[in-house]
Amino acid sequence: MGAPREQFGSRLGFILAAAGSAVGIGNMVGFPVAATKNGGGAFLLMYAIFVAFVCLPVMLAEMSVGRASRKDPLGAYNDLSGGQWHWKIAGWLATITPFMIAIFYLVLTVWIFGYLVQCVLGNLDVLADPGTFGVFINGYELFYYMIGVLIIVYLILQGGVKQGIEKAAKLMMPALFVMLIGLVIFVLTLDNAFEGVKYYLVPDFSKVDAAVVSAALSQAFFSLSLGMGIMLTYGSYLDKHSDVPGSAKLVALMDTGVAFIAGLLILPAVFSFNPNTNTESLSDSSVGMIFTFLPKIFLALQSTIGYAGASVVASLFFLLVFFAAITSLVSIFEVPVSALMEDKGYSRKKSLGILGALLVALSIVAASSFGISTFFTEFVSYAGQTKSVFDVIIDVFYDTILPFNGLLVCLFVIYRWKKSNLNTELDMGSPKFANSWFEKYVNFSLGTFIPVILLLVFINTVALKYFGN
Ligand code: PHE
Repeated sequence: MGAPREQFGSRLGFILAAAGSAVGIGNMVGFPVAATKNGGGAFLLMYAIFVAFVCLPVMLAEMSVGRASRKDPLGAYNDLSGGQWHWKIAGWLATITPFMIAIFYLVLTVWIFGYLVQCVLGNLDVLADPGTFGVFINGYELFYYMIGVLIIVYLILQGGVKQGIEKAAKLMMPALFVMLIGLVIFVLTLDNAFEGVKYYLVPDFSKVDAAVVSAALSQAFFSLSLGMGIMLTYGSYLDKHSDVPGSAKLVALMDTGVAFIAGLLILPAVFSFNPNTNTESLSDSSVGMIFTFLPKIFLALQSTIGYAGASVVASLFFLLVFFAAITSLVSIFEVPVSALMEDKGYSRKKSLGILGALLVALSIVAASSFGISTFFTEFVSYAGQTKSVFDVIIDVFYDTILPFNGLLVCLFVIYRWKKSNLNTELDMGSPKFANSWFEKYVNFSLGTFIPVILLLVFINTVALKYFGN
């Protein structure tokens, strides 16, 4: 329909944009916390195995479906299935899921933006106060921060694939790498830093049980931005000569690398602050870690580098997480935007306007889930727990439908679209991949145990979340 499909300008641009999507809040904080609590090196090892042998094949499947169809998820499932209605449902799920996840991800990004602004303004001491976060997330200033974040996302996305998404990734990702490495080097010079490194890396296999294995897989799946139509949509902006397997491997490697290195930043910082930390006392969630624990640690740096120095370090950290979050937010929002453009023939601006307005409305609802509105805070109750709108979105879309979408992609590629088409697509820009052991592995695993694993994750989540057993 209408204009030819937009394209990334270069291979590097595509890799950085896809890595920008993958590297997000989950890498910067979620991964280090999960690794430390769940057996350190043992968790790392499992995580790496899941990335290489479960997630990478799924990523290849998503990117190939995108590039073969050159469509958004709706169009891709429709065209490659020959218009079968049940596959259209998969297309819808892969379009709605990112929109819904964008709501909660936007709320997190807005908080990070607010903390970044406050650090830059010199209010680190306020942020370090344990009571601040609870007040902050219920304050009306949040609305301004939300507008700020949305303007940034809008400006990037309205530039389109090459001038918007790719340019932003080429700017933000290298900056992110530099800030990350700089902060790690600084933190490693602090007293007791190596205690933190030890805690992070020394494997403790006794902690590994079924729940930990499942947590490692979910973390890897989410971290690589799978199950949300993102890699499919980005793949659809690739030309036919590009090397999909080679690029996907680099994306997975960068994502895992950044997550690993982020641990070398967070844990040494924690241990230098309090050498007697034990993993039990570590904050349970990434949210607690970023917004209450870390500001305290940054403030403590004032005894060595002064208040201004501590503020600079804290600002750099929040800027780093903010860049990671923005490039992810852009990718997740691009999925419904591209679907609306393709499906309805709307311009990019019009699609952005419509979906942006919807996103603002729903995000305000989600952001009111922390006390502002009792109705949204105590929205429903299941499995014996009262849940806010924010919780419901996370439970349903992030925890439940995400692995389910992954399962559908695997089944679709192998049993509907067929292996031969997948292989043709994968081999096109990558003669080395053709007939390699990894290609055989991808063919086999996508049709057998990967969907089984994802189905188990799905069933397990449903049982735990909604039935509480
Ligand atoms: N991969 C991102 C992270 O680890 C998560 C994400 C990306 C979520 C894109 C939504 C959209 O934080």
